[in-house]
Amino acid sequence: MSVAGFPLDPGDGDAFAASQDLLLRTCVVGAGVMGTGIAYTCACHGLPVRLKDVRASALQHSLQEMERLLARRSDATGAAVRAQLDYQGFECASVVIEAVVDNLGIKNKVLGEVEGLVAEDAVLLSNTSSLRIDDLATALQRPQNFAGMHFFNPAPVMPLVEVIRGRQTSDYAVQTAVKQALAMGKIPIVVRDGPGFLVNRILMAYIHAFLRLLAEGVDYQRIDRVTEAFGWPMGPAYLEDVVGLDVGTQSCDLIFASYPERMPALPRNAFRVLLDAGLYGQKGGAGFYLYRPGADGRPERSVNPLAQRLLRERLAAEERPMDETQIIDRLMLPMIVESVHALQESVVASAMELDRALSLGIGFPPLRGGALRYADELGAAEVLARCERYRHLGETYEAPPLLRQLARDNGRFHAIGDGR
Ligand SMILES: NC(=O)c1ccc[n+]([C@@H]2O[C@H](COP(=O)([O-])OP(=O)(O)OC[C@H]3O[C@@H](n4cnc5c(N)ncnc54)[C@H](O)[C@@H]3O)[C@@H](O)[C@H]2O)c1
Repeated sequence: MSVAGFPLDPGDGDAFAASQDLLLRTCVVGAGVMGTGIAYTCACHGLPVRLKDVRASALQHSLQEMERLLARRSDATGAAVRAQLDYQGFECASVVIEAVVDNLGIKNKVLGEVEGLVAEDAVLLSNTSSLRIDDLATALQRPQNFAGMHFFNPAPVMPLVEVIRGRQTSDYAVQTAVKQALAMGKIPIVVRDGPGFLVNRILMAYIHAFLRLLAEGVDYQRIDRVTEAFGWPMGPAYLEDVVGLDVGTQSCDLIFASYPERMPALPRNAFRVLLDAGLYGQKGGAGFYLYRPGADGRPERSVNPLAQRLLRERLAAEERPMDETQIIDRLMLPMIVESVHALQESVVASAMELDRALSLGIGFPPLRGGALRYADELGAAEVLARCERYRHLGETYEAPPLLRQLARDNGRFHAIGDGR
């Protein structure tokens, strides 16, 4: 297989075995969307990489994509990516990042194979977004050398990496994953294993609230306008179009099922209505919006009358007027509530790290500083009062004990652990 041509690299892949710094020897398994982005990011940061897939066509496509990305860079320097169908060189790897399809059986098989080939102290990292690290660890002889390393799409661009500590993950494995992320120019946040880890779990609380607003007949264009004015880079309808409604629905279903009290299943939701009509989002040219190539080649967006009509016919016949504060509270309170649960459960060490992860991972409105900073700005007593206002809508809006305590003590999430 060929090697992606980074100009300053000898191009023969020998840099991998010759590398003196063991941390730099990275293997990536799975050359799809994520594996390609991860391998490319390693190479851009001077880390020689071996990229393995079972399909030659996937490797070919991956190398083409890397050449395309490289062509856009004016400062293209870096190491080589060697694309291969076998496990050659894995015995020298210090880190193996697994990015194959999100299927427990396939991942267990791949991780088991890799563990049998690598050195005893090599660390295996999975980029899964929906499987649990503890479930993946069951296939391994050395689960202590295994952790999650969750990149966000597109991997070369998104700065955040969640490093996921499973029940058996050692400090050594966590430290290695953190070092690897830093060497790739990323910002790592260490989180505990659990459905959706940290960022997607909190994002899904917001998406769940969005689907409920649509089911009540609130217009999605209005929701997008109001949330963008609040500071989100894109409203939730546009966001899901970009993610792809099929992919979006899959993550929703998995994460909703894990938190049924606060995110009860929504069997007849807007995503399903649109998907049933063949509307997949931006990649298919139509979702909540229509996308046509503009003069500069970038897609131009306009509202999709078919989507509007289908939602009226299948979900809510009447449009429901709702003021801006209500829309924001209905969407933001569930995010705050889920963030407080994650903090209470020690999924993340501090409010500061949680907020940083939301800003870097999903573009939480920068001026608001994160869900818990926003809650601190409103004041815990005010957030509690707003939660009470929507309590009739179920546990989604029920204030967790930590929020109640801060409301009583006039405390702040960002002061917890400060000794103040
Ligand atoms: N796409 C995203 O937005 C995103 C974001 C974060 C994490 N992830 C996670 O990244 C992982 C990969 O997702 P993706 O979107 O890149 O998928 P993808 O379908 O684009 O790529 C998966 C690749 O794995 C390869 N593969 C399958 N079996 C293999 C095997 N036995 N050995 C080697 N390669 C094999 C396939 O040929 C394919 O090229 C998943 O676990 C997913 O949850 C995806």
